[in-house]
Amino acid sequence: MAAAYSSTPLSSVLRALFGKAPYFGGTTFGFQGDWRRHVFMAAAAQAAMQKGRPVHILEIGSWVGSSALTWAQTLRQFAVAGSSITCVDLWAPFTTTGDIAKGGIYAEFNELAKTEVPYELFRHNTQSISGAVALHVHRGQSRDILPTLKKGAYDLVYVDASHYYEDVLEDLKHAAPLVRDGGIFCGDDLELQVGEVDLAQVRAKISEDYTHDPKTGRGFHPGVALACHEFFGRRIPCTIGFWYLEKSAGGYVDPTLINRSIVVPGHFTAEMQAACRTFLGR
Ligand SMILES: C[S@@+](CC[C@H](N)C(=O)[O-])C[C@H]1O[C@@H](n2cnc3c(N)ncnc32)[C@H](O)[C@@H]1O
Repeated sequence: MAAAYSSTPLSSVLRALFGKAPYFGGTTFGFQGDWRRHVFMAAAAQAAMQKGRPVHILEIGSWVGSSALTWAQTLRQFAVAGSSITCVDLWAPFTTTGDIAKGGIYAEFNELAKTEVPYELFRHNTQSISGAVALHVHRGQSRDILPTLKKGAYDLVYVDASHYYEDVLEDLKHAAPLVRDGGIFCGDDLELQVGEVDLAQVRAKISEDYTHDPKTGRGFHPGVALACHEFFGRRIPCTIGFWYLEKSAGGYVDPTLINRSIVVPGHFTAEMQAACRTFLGR
């Protein structure tokens, strides 16, 4: 009997537990960072749209699929058929030994990343993405996969993989050419930019995923802060950690996300949805 149970595919177990409903609870780390950012992601996706044309989104870092579902909901609502979401993720451990040694969520996250649960849960959670919006999945190192994707092919490219400095810088370099002119280049976890936090402080903590600014006590990702500072060379538009730029022939300009329709992710809990509306004053 034990052998029969142990050979049950994880995908079947997830189906048995949750039916077709997505699952982000327990210790899945399903909702990461300040998830109110998703309403701005949806606004950015609308800013990336061209009338009557399918919209192609590239997401670097998908974990168990929460951000992918927000993109999908926005495309289903506003984009024409033939649109797509391409997800690139390692679905394998990437946390440094230094961060794992801190224990807590880093150690837990790393243990989960050693299993196939995140990948299978991503597949389970994104099964609704089909039909008018296609889902393409690439599993592997972003630095290997991004160079194989077509340059200028994406209306929006979202960077949310590893937050360690070298990894973010590499992702920005490889991802930038994939955005079409007029498209949106954006990413997650830029809570503080260089300038708001001292460059010396950022450099001192550069081997860590997350730290606190000693002056203000605010938490931030030093790797994301330094990589964005070096790559863009200026302060960039950013709302509660979600950064966004419009690619132009000569570089990047600041897009406006105001006057876009509000999308509150349907896969969020009722409390999270209410928090999003409160944040927007709706
Ligand atoms: C912050 S999570 C993504 C969260 C997701 N965007 C969301 O909001 O639901 C970061 C993801 O990046 C992936 N990742 C880390 N390093 C990577 C690499 N070098 N190449 C591809 N994916 C990577 C991890 O496997 C993890 O799933």
